Amino acid sequence: MSRLPLVAVVAICIGAMAAGPASAFSGHQDPAKMVSSCTPCHSSHGVTNTPMLRAAGDEFCLACHSLRSADPQRKRSLGMSTSAHPADIESELRKPYPHRWALCRDCHSVHGVQSNRGGPVEPFSIGQVKASTKRGFDTEVDLCLSCHGSRGVGGGDPHDLRNLLDPRNPSYHPLLAVGPARNVPSLRAPLSTDARMNCTDCHTNDDPNGARGPHGSRLEGMLGASMNTQEGQPESETAYALCYACHDRQIVLEQDAFPLHNEHVVDERIPCRSCHDPHGATSALALIRFNEPTVLTGVTASSSGSLRYESMGSGSGACFLTCHGVNHDPLGYGAGFDSKGLPLMPEMWGRDALPGAQRRLPGTRVAPSPTLERRK
Ligand code: HEC
Ligand code: HEC
Ligand code: HEC
Ligand code: HEC
Ligand code: HEC
Ligand code: HEC
Ligand code: HEC
Repeated sequence: MSRLPLVAVVAICIGAMAAGPASAFSGHQDPAKMVSSCTPCHSSHGVTNTPMLRAAGDEFCLACHSLRSADPQRKRSLGMSTSAHPADIESELRKPYPHRWALCRDCHSVHGVQSNRGGPVEPFSIGQVKASTKRGFDTEVDLCLSCHGSRGVGGGDPHDLRNLLDPRNPSYHPLLAVGPARNVPSLRAPLSTDARMNCTDCHTNDDPNGARGPHGSRLEGMLGASMNTQEGQPESETAYALCYACHDRQIVLEQDAFPLHNEHVVDERIPCRSCHDPHGATSALALIRFNEPTVLTGVTASSSGSLRYESMGSGSGACFLTCHGVNHDPLGYGAGFDSKGLPLMPEMWGRDALPGAQRRLPGTRVAPSPTLERRK
């Protein structure tokens, strides 16, 4: 855009934007925060190749969105009033796990974004769908998946999050649609299996008092709460704080559908991540992806060459794998298995006795394995 027409556009827009729709209200248009409506950002001596902005790139935003602007003198020179408190994003970008390679304007519309200021941060504001901060996307998840989805071909990319979160999958955390599971006793009230969630319920600032959003964290994976992924670490409230924010710790460890949680997580010190994918699974229930390309380590095929999880309905299932030398061919829990996890009828668990994948339609209950029914 050349400079002259833009001056005219800005002049015309001033009237239009000042009287713009209230729904598009943002701190950027708040007369109590900005000394004047446009000049804090646009100046007649703006940087070339920008719409007369005072600086280029992220540096433009960070002039105000940093600790540097806390000083009242500096605030005034930037065109803000002293009551303005733009969130400090610069410090987030300096943390060990910042959101690399994405610019502020990839995710934010500067004019007319709906305000993100949704009140205090508390874990159970989840359950609803968040609006996108960027025009052109309806929801936050759509914004995130515009870069984090569908890079792989044929579902082979373990990082293709759109593939993992696809509502046609047998299990997924409910980001694109309400989840398919009906028996998740660990969910903390008021969450239920009808809840929805957002990427930023897990990927956000680890400091609850700092700026919200996926800008940076001190925790690996840019996570908002700690999530141990290493084997051999003791279980504790903090070790798996991310999961326990929504899944009651005591129920997970003592009374849920998988009676061996305690043995695996507390006694054997196996992290949640060794069995569950935090996003979704394309061929098994309970977010388990033993048979898919994942970032799992330590898990290999069983002695009969099988690598899969077979659910026989909530509370009963079989695992085919070898984990650090412990052969599961299968080992299971619930109906059909003894207290050591050995099958009561080993002959029915031949190598190809069961289909590798049991699929479930969203919203339906899990039917007992048809193969198991037939053989009973
Ligand atoms: C908080 C800083 C800020 C304020 C305040 C602001 N703008 Fe902008 N404006 C920007 C940025 C940044 C861009 C570049 C947008 C982009 O590339 O995403 C822009 C772009 C523009 C453009 C180019 C077309 C477009 O939308 O990309 C016009 C015209 C414009 N602004 C007019 C105004 C007017 C008129 C006002 C006052 C009512 C105003 N702006 C207030 C930051 C601001
Ligand atoms: C001239 C200073 C200034 C600049 C430059 C600036 N901001 Fe802001 N920003 C503010 C102020 C002031 C607020 C409101 C803070 C408050 O509520 O006290 C704000 C609020 C926000 C919010 C919170 C939601 C909202 O709309 O209120 C977002 C997101 C945001 N800015 C993004 C950006 C991005 C992205 C850029 C660069 C393209 C940018 N800002 C540039 C001053 C600025
Ligand atoms: C990957 C996308 C993404 C990028 C890149 C990004 N943001 Fe954000 N930002 C968000 C989301 C999403 C939220 C809202 C988080 C929420 O509602 O919990 C947010 C929130 C904010 C807020 C409000 C924080 C608060 O506590 O009220 C500000 C200010 C902000 N961003 C500024 C920036 C600036 C400046 C940059 C560039 C340095 C930037 N953002 C880069 C996605 C992004
Ligand atoms: C403009 C493209 C873009 C958008 C939009 C985007 N991201 Fe990213 N994101 C990236 C890139 C690029 C990386 C760095 C990948 C790498 O380092 O290999 C990244 C990395 C990440 C990481 C990994 C951080 C780490 O330390 O391992 C997370 C988590 C993440 N993004 C979450 C989000 C969330 C949540 C949103 C939506 C609010 C989002 N992203 C939107 C481009 C984007
Ligand atoms: C923001 C809240 C939230 C967080 C954080 C969270 N979950 Fe969930 N989780 C849910 C909801 C809601 C459901 C119900 C989904 C459904 O009905 O299919 C669920 C379901 C599950 C299920 C059952 C899926 C099925 O299809 O049977 C597993 C397993 C699970 N979560 C594991 C985890 C693990 C491991 C973590 C930590 C990485 C975690 N969750 C973090 C909200 C959360
Ligand atoms: C050894 C593998 C394994 C490990 C480690 C593991 N889980 Fe599970 N988990 C399962 C299996 C298998 C099921 C499915 C139970 C069923 O539906 O029959 C399950 C079910 C669940 C469910 C759904 C039922 C419920 O309680 O609401 C949640 C939530 C869950 N796990 C969370 C966790 C968390 C959090 C951790 C880490 C603290 C963890 N799991 C560690 C195997 C594991
Ligand atoms: C229930 C919590 C949870 C939710 C919701 C969630 N993530 Fe993650 N994510 C994690 C955890 C834990 C890790 C790190 C462990 C791992 O890589 O599996 C991770 C890893 C990542 C990574 C880095 C590894 C990779 O697979 O590329 C990216 C990028 C990412 N998430 C993006 C997103 C985006 C985008 C969304 C929303 C569409 C999202 N996540 C939703 C928990 C979550």
